[in-house]
Amino acid sequence: MKKMITRITEIMSSAFAACGYDASYGTVTVSNRPDLCQYQCNGAMAAAKQYHKAPIMIAGEVVAAVGEQEMFASCAAVAPGFINITLRGEALADYVLAMGGAEKFGVEAAEKPKTVVIDYGGANVAKPLHVGHLRPAIIGESLKYILRYAGHKVIGDAHLGDWGLPIGLIITELKRRQPDLPYFDPDFTGEYPTEAPFTVSELEEIYPFASQYSKQEGHEEYRDAARKAILDLQKGNRGYHALWNHIMTVSMEDLKKNYESLNVYFDLWKKESDAQPYIPAMIEKMKAGGYTRISEGALVVDVKEESDTKEIPPCMILKSDGATLYNTTDLATIVERMKLFSPDQIVYVVDKRQDLYFDQIFRCARKTGLVKPETELTFIGFGTMNGKDGKPFKTRDGGVMRLETLVGNIRDEVLAKMADREIPEEEKQKIAQIVGLAALKYGDLSNQASKDYIFDIERFTSFEGNTGPYILYTMVRIKSILAKLTEIPAMVTKAGTRERGPEETNLLLTVARFADMVEKAAAELAPHRVCQYLYELADNFNGFYHANKIVSEPDEEKRNEWITMLQIVLKIFGDGTGMLAMETPDRM
Ligand code: ARG
Repeated sequence: MKKMITRITEIMSSAFAACGYDASYGTVTVSNRPDLCQYQCNGAMAAAKQYHKAPIMIAGEVVAAVGEQEMFASCAAVAPGFINITLRGEALADYVLAMGGAEKFGVEAAEKPKTVVIDYGGANVAKPLHVGHLRPAIIGESLKYILRYAGHKVIGDAHLGDWGLPIGLIITELKRRQPDLPYFDPDFTGEYPTEAPFTVSELEEIYPFASQYSKQEGHEEYRDAARKAILDLQKGNRGYHALWNHIMTVSMEDLKKNYESLNVYFDLWKKESDAQPYIPAMIEKMKAGGYTRISEGALVVDVKEESDTKEIPPCMILKSDGATLYNTTDLATIVERMKLFSPDQIVYVVDKRQDLYFDQIFRCARKTGLVKPETELTFIGFGTMNGKDGKPFKTRDGGVMRLETLVGNIRDEVLAKMADREIPEEEKQKIAQIVGLAALKYGDLSNQASKDYIFDIERFTSFEGNTGPYILYTMVRIKSILAKLTEIPAMVTKAGTRERGPEETNLLLTVARFADMVEKAAAELAPHRVCQYLYELADNFNGFYHANKIVSEPDEEKRNEWITMLQIVLKIFGDGTGMLAMETPDRM
């Protein structure tokens, strides 16, 4: 289905062409002065420079060439050279009714569907999920649905951290606490126990302890031991490998449960270690291509470019002791992804402080030919979630808040808001869980990903304003109107001829923008565009709702058209909130 904005642009473009101007000047945008018109074309202003003519003259000629149009109520040239366009109510309503019958409300599958890998987990095994993992999970999950809706093939990967120093620290700490375990006996040749020597909560205590301990003065030896342990693990130490397996089993189960409670579902549960088999051949290839050099004993690839305005350090591939690094793993993961999925694009949703790091990785991958020249490598660096004090969000005692705790807090806040609702307790709990999660997700996604934002539990859970609960509340309102009807009339496909009030027109205009919004959100990888749209849709729906009596409207033609519109709006809300991975309750 051709987008409304495209239809209008086509009319304007042919008019520009008919007057002897370049057709590209016919591009139309949604009006930024809705009080004056619905759409506008500023092409005459730009054309004036090329054709050395007053913009208002060009605009006048073009408007004359447009002439009478089925779709337009008015098309006028205004000083200094804008063209203001307003649609006929029926044309607009017809378009919206047609959207209701079209697949995905007229969003067409991308011309060139891409295969996209999204790397958006990044949680580290043996550490509980904390608020730092919230943003990538929420943003990545939403990007996955947006891109799929736009017709792309998307593979979401958890890319869990399971191979770095933290594992070395855990091994070292375990050895300090329980030196007699067989994993630490080099002469042990038997079968290792199948049961892990720790529970998940013990594991979660061990890592922070070891990390703290290793940083304290006088504990250099401990630090060295941890580094050596990870190197030994990488080299295939049997006992360490068995321990690592235990860490994986115990902690993966917990991580899966946690992500699930956020309604975040990865297609792949890959880990950094899965890329290890690709490392030797990758390094050989880099060496053979002449891309590497030795710098202070380490193997590096230079990635600086002439146009750089800041210093871009070389990308380190192997440390001087031969150990691989975070870099090596990320590069080998690219090799693996190219081999398994041959993606057109890999999107990384990672803390924006890793910006420079990913710049190095991308450059190194391109330079050494790990990807095709046309493969897109995209870094979506997200900002920090701050507390009300403007500093990174912490628990009251200054610790890192577990994700479970955060989700619980927000659910309780919603429950408190619903205290006076007459809903059975059990259902209320369920609703609060859904609404709480939506509040959290929307509070995050409504900001541009790169920006920091303040976690404000009161604002996020408010049923009014630009919030998740407000969107859900509006949906619930539509559901309840529809539920009041004794009978749902057949979907109307042809708009009636009548005056439409400003509230109805605004609602129709917003609905008509849906496909354009989805395309932009997908092209820019921008969930906040979906939020913005849903907020506007909710506001315009509520405006319409307050201005009209829908259920008791005596004019049957009008009433039936409205009921059709309500159903379309509700479904668009459903698809839109789906793109944000928000669930919706039936009441709240
Ligand atoms: N585990 C990493 C960390 O905690 C984040 C991983 C991000 N993804 C990646 N491909 N490097 O910092």
